[in-house]
Amino acid sequence: MVSTLLSLSVSHLVLWATGLILVLGFLKLIRLLLRRQMLARAMDSFPGPPTHWLFGHAQEIQQTGSLDKVVTWAHQYDYAHPLWLGPFLGFLNIYEPDYAKAVYSRGDPKAADVYDFFLQWIGKGLLVLQGPKWYQHRKLLTPGFHYDVLKSYVAVFTNSTHAMLDKWEEKAREDKSFDIFCDVGYMALDSLMKCTFGKGDSSLGHRDSSYYSAVRDLTLLMQQRIESFQYHNDFIYWLTPHGRRFLRACQAAHDHTDQVIRERKAALQDEKEQEKIQNRRHLDFLDILLGARDENGIKLSDADLRAEVDTFMFEGHDTTTSGISWFLYCMALYPQHQHRCREEVCEILGDRDSFQWDDLVKMTYLTMCIKESFRLYPPVPQVYRQLSKPVNFVDGRSLPAGSLISLHIYALHRNSAVWPDPEVFDPLRFSSENVARRHPFAFMPFSAGPRNCIGQQFAMNEMKVVTALCLLRFEFALDPLQLPVKMPQLILRSKNGIHLHLKSLRLGSGK
Ligand code: HEM
Repeated sequence: MVSTLLSLSVSHLVLWATGLILVLGFLKLIRLLLRRQMLARAMDSFPGPPTHWLFGHAQEIQQTGSLDKVVTWAHQYDYAHPLWLGPFLGFLNIYEPDYAKAVYSRGDPKAADVYDFFLQWIGKGLLVLQGPKWYQHRKLLTPGFHYDVLKSYVAVFTNSTHAMLDKWEEKAREDKSFDIFCDVGYMALDSLMKCTFGKGDSSLGHRDSSYYSAVRDLTLLMQQRIESFQYHNDFIYWLTPHGRRFLRACQAAHDHTDQVIRERKAALQDEKEQEKIQNRRHLDFLDILLGARDENGIKLSDADLRAEVDTFMFEGHDTTTSGISWFLYCMALYPQHQHRCREEVCEILGDRDSFQWDDLVKMTYLTMCIKESFRLYPPVPQVYRQLSKPVNFVDGRSLPAGSLISLHIYALHRNSAVWPDPEVFDPLRFSSENVARRHPFAFMPFSAGPRNCIGQQFAMNEMKVVTALCLLRFEFALDPLQLPVKMPQLILRSKNGIHLHLKSLRLGSGK
């Protein structure tokens, strides 16, 4: 009798649970369909490439490589076109300076549909935060990038670069090309750890290289998630092998950042260490975070602290890795510019053996080449926003609040209305006269407006020091059998790495 009752109530429960799941699923579907209708209606006046009812444009992007596909579309559709990633997620994809200005000069929030995918990994740090909390954190962290703080980093960049170049001397002796991307990545992570997280002089250890690999997996998995509508829902995603792989990679990344925080907190218990920090005229990034108090004297919560460390650890090394690697590729591709940059840095250096802060402003040709390589190979090729209020564009078209925007930096930088012969590498596009004549939103490697990159000065300094030292030590040439294949993975990577031939310029190197 009891067992019959029990089995009855269990089957009732299962029935109820199934019913509830179906009702909730149905309500969710209605909500998604209404949103799709809202997004589609908002983009009514923007023609675009044909859309698959289920996949949107995702299949074309995955098959042919999104970057050049969007450039082709940009030739067909002036200013902007709808871009659907699955049936429910539709962006207005923009690549024209006035359109970019209309959105990016305001402080619209990041599009949660994409940036929420970051939460499990980098939490609510500066990249993802919105509103007053974002403003509070941005204000708090800006002094970490003060000119005087940045000055002291020139020596750190130099040391980390020398370690990489010494390794390259050995590889160059083997007389075959090799992939530089990973070595540049370790060097950039090493620099970042020393500059902003107070790491000692030791080189990268096992934990750091696990972190580096974890970030490589995370950026790939995130990009695939953005492009695959079946992974958009959190509940479903965490049940898939892809989602579980993401969680494992997050764990590996967090192990590293937790360790960094733990070590610094332990050091702060040490009186001598405290004295050292107080004697420093400028605090590094981690000092600022650990010492931060709000108006009521309350410290940053552990979750906030971890989110900022995770955010800066990622943003601070993966972007510059991409920038430096693609720059060296450009130098190999255009030997005449490589030669001119080398001449310039040799002249600046004279008979000294390392660069100083004042040298960086003198590197005018190198800087133009770095900017031109950012134009053709932007380290962050695409960023997303959600409009908090309606926007009117120059050509009279408009979008209502709630619409989603994707700024395609890669296509903007190849917009032939702004950049004549866009595929040609021409550093003189960045001479002061040419820059003055151009639309200020035509070149946006660091985005623009209030949500621009907080680390751009840090990044430019690092780019100059590292690339100048590379050019002094080596001549770079292409490997025609292994040309890189561009692939966006949050940052711009190459599917097959960046393989270059290096010839040492050191006297007595035997080459
Ligand atoms: C070549 C190097 C770099 C490039 C091209 C770059 C590019 C960008 C871009 C395009 C954004 C806007 C992202 C968005 O809207 O979603 C951004 C934001 C950000 N970047 Fe960078 N970045 C670089 C280096 C760095 C470095 C070295 C750091 C830190 C040390 C850094 C920290 C950040 C942070 C924290 C944000 C979010 C800022 C906010 O929303 O207030 N970046 N970066």
